[in-house]
Amino acid sequence: MTIKEKINDKIGNIVSRFNSLSQEENSKLQTETVISDGMPELARQAAAEGAVLLENKGLLPLAAGTTVSLFGRTYKDYFFVGYGSGGDVIRPYNIDIAEGIENCDRLKLNTTLHSIYLEWIEKNPVSHGYWAHWPLRYWEMPLTDEIVAQAKADSDVAVVTIGRSSGEDRDCDLDNGSYFLHDEEIEMLDTVTAHFDKVVVLLNVGNIIDMSWVKHYGDKIGAVMYVWQGGMESGNAVADLLCGKVNPSGRLTDTIARNYYDYPSSASFGNKKANEYTEDIFVGYRYFESFAQDKVLYPFGYGLSYTSFEIKCNDVKANDNGFEFNFTVTNTGDVAGKETVQLYLGKPCGRLGNPSRALAAFEKTELLEPKQSQSITLFVDMYQLTSFDDCGSTNNASSYVIEKGEYSFYAGNNVRQAEKVFTYFQEGTELWQQLKQVCSPKNDFIVWRAEEKSGKIYLGSKHVAKEKYDLATRILNNLPAAIEQTGDKGIKLADVKNGKATLDEFVAQLDNTELEAITRGDYKMDSPLGPKGNAGAYGGVLESLRNKGIRPIITTDGPSGIRLISCCSLLPIGTLLACSFNTRLVEQLYTIVAKEMKEKGTDVLLAPGMNIHRNPLCGRNFEYFSEDPYVSGKMGAACVKGIQSQGGSACPKHFACNNQELCRNTNDSQISERALREIYLKAFEICIKDSQPKNIMTSYNKINNVWCHYNYDTCVTVLRNEWGYEGNVMTDWWMKPSKSIEFPNLRDQAYRIRSGVNLLMPGGDRVTNGKPDGTLLATLGKPDGITLGEIQQSAKYILKSVMDIE
Ligand code: BGC
Repeated sequence: MTIKEKINDKIGNIVSRFNSLSQEENSKLQTETVISDGMPELARQAAAEGAVLLENKGLLPLAAGTTVSLFGRTYKDYFFVGYGSGGDVIRPYNIDIAEGIENCDRLKLNTTLHSIYLEWIEKNPVSHGYWAHWPLRYWEMPLTDEIVAQAKADSDVAVVTIGRSSGEDRDCDLDNGSYFLHDEEIEMLDTVTAHFDKVVVLLNVGNIIDMSWVKHYGDKIGAVMYVWQGGMESGNAVADLLCGKVNPSGRLTDTIARNYYDYPSSASFGNKKANEYTEDIFVGYRYFESFAQDKVLYPFGYGLSYTSFEIKCNDVKANDNGFEFNFTVTNTGDVAGKETVQLYLGKPCGRLGNPSRALAAFEKTELLEPKQSQSITLFVDMYQLTSFDDCGSTNNASSYVIEKGEYSFYAGNNVRQAEKVFTYFQEGTELWQQLKQVCSPKNDFIVWRAEEKSGKIYLGSKHVAKEKYDLATRILNNLPAAIEQTGDKGIKLADVKNGKATLDEFVAQLDNTELEAITRGDYKMDSPLGPKGNAGAYGGVLESLRNKGIRPIITTDGPSGIRLISCCSLLPIGTLLACSFNTRLVEQLYTIVAKEMKEKGTDVLLAPGMNIHRNPLCGRNFEYFSEDPYVSGKMGAACVKGIQSQGGSACPKHFACNNQELCRNTNDSQISERALREIYLKAFEICIKDSQPKNIMTSYNKINNVWCHYNYDTCVTVLRNEWGYEGNVMTDWWMKPSKSIEFPNLRDQAYRIRSGVNLLMPGGDRVTNGKPDGTLLATLGKPDGITLGEIQQSAKYILKSVMDIE
């Protein structure tokens, strides 16, 4: 343990006594233990289905009766989830790996070794740190040769757990003990592999870590599996996988590169002020598959099984809307298992410089017995063939186009092992959709582009297309008309819902104080209007609003379960769920969460986390799904459908480009419009069009110098006008006060409302807690001030979400 870690630990122990947001603090609270019907089984299935088996030299599954020696303290001090709002759930129980093995009727635990660990752990307890100072790992018990030799004598197999964590407001370190193995862990692996000839390594992590050590140990390590942070059923799921009751079927939703610096974003991640997204659309496998295949250790979509499958494409039907692929998947091995058919699109390089592969569709089979087959149908929409021309290279600036050339489809079980199954020729470049330029860079910088010379693809570069339009004019031309204020006419919100009055008639009744109140929350987290520990309330935050039938809407975090001072299920992290590639399962899981929401009295779950894994060090990657927007969008939609199945609301977040935690409130993501649309907004676009969330949350960071909670183009031009979104747009918790760039008379709440960000959460600001900050109404009715129509329009979106939440 380093001195820095020791100091952090000490401070953590003191601070966590006062910090109600600390996970440790909350889990000490006495709440009634509640276990939802069906949740343990489903959470266990999900935790197992998202685990990714990277290496297996015939060691797994372990034969019935195998005695297992567990090494690495996190087998006991397990990271069940990451830290911060995405992990702070008071769960009914946690099953660590030792308990999982003990519960498993096929495996035995080496209890002598386990007792040694327990004794040491008792004397060396972990600390959970404090906000933004979460531990990235826990220090290890030093192992002597005697201990390991005895363990070898007492057991058949060593299972070594490497644990990592991360959390909100803190990125991982490019250092030993975070991205890299710590010396203590290397020593542990050295000692264990010196004595055991059968060694399994489990990665209990929220982020991808350096994996170059796998090659170094070679045959000394027989199996390596990412088991991620699997929520409350983690240990049972791990035991199921080790003993073969469950056949691993998770697939990577991120590329594992040989070296951190092979990740294209490594050159511009971790800057305090701004990061230039130089790699442009070449995020993750889009880069590796196009330009650097040899820099990959484990490709996107990769994962092993205890059986083998054949994926056969039977036929492809093309029509004006797209392409329908029919596959037969057959289990060709000896044990039952599940396979995911992954369909990738290879676009022509074209003038825009397209990546050589992009995930276009996927589907997981049911459990297939040996020799059993299943038909799978996948559909690729013509829209997925488009690329965004942000600089006019195809003479169609600000448009989605289908470039002329050959479009190849590849099917298989990872991006690298996918056979060409169909080719489509596009005769000429087709303008698909003419749009408006949005949110483009203000300053010049260079981004990567793919270039074709004599049939070969090279990595070239280009200047980004800069902003060429006047945002102020765009906004002023689109200002909504005011509804004449009538005073109270006795119309209740239920009358609007029942069709007895219009929403405009209802809103006409609201005076300015009420309009101000409706466009912000009830000021604080843990609002007295909701159950203890909620994240804040909105809607009926004034008596007069409640009298008009607007009830308070209660929000709670978050992506891995409901964060209240009350017992709720802890789910596996987002990355694990995405690796399951099982959208049906994810939807079912969140359907149970939705029922818990009803029971606990919360209306909006601040989830799913939908940002792209641009870099493996981002502290909140565990909450998010993938480096790929398609799987992120589909997983997000599955969560939203589950959460909204019982009448409540999801709230996909953080819209958009929240790809780093360092200086998350001020950091500027400098990005081309093409990368913004094709990668970072795309996940949200897919999710929103597929599942219509009733709420969406903006992010803290800036995009091209504009804070996302003041971003008219993302929140209105794209979200509403292009995608037809009709729900409510809320801020992330408190926002940065600022004067409007285009309208210097407007600041803070007026700037926000003009930008189409309807609701400030949790309300007020940290200083004026308990009363409005005054900035919304300050300029109402004044020349160049905020207009009544704008405030009323935001109120309408919020009221619509109140009505839509049952
Ligand atoms: C996080 C959000 C979270 C909110 C409420 C913010 O710090 O960024 O993801 O939903 O707090 O807890």
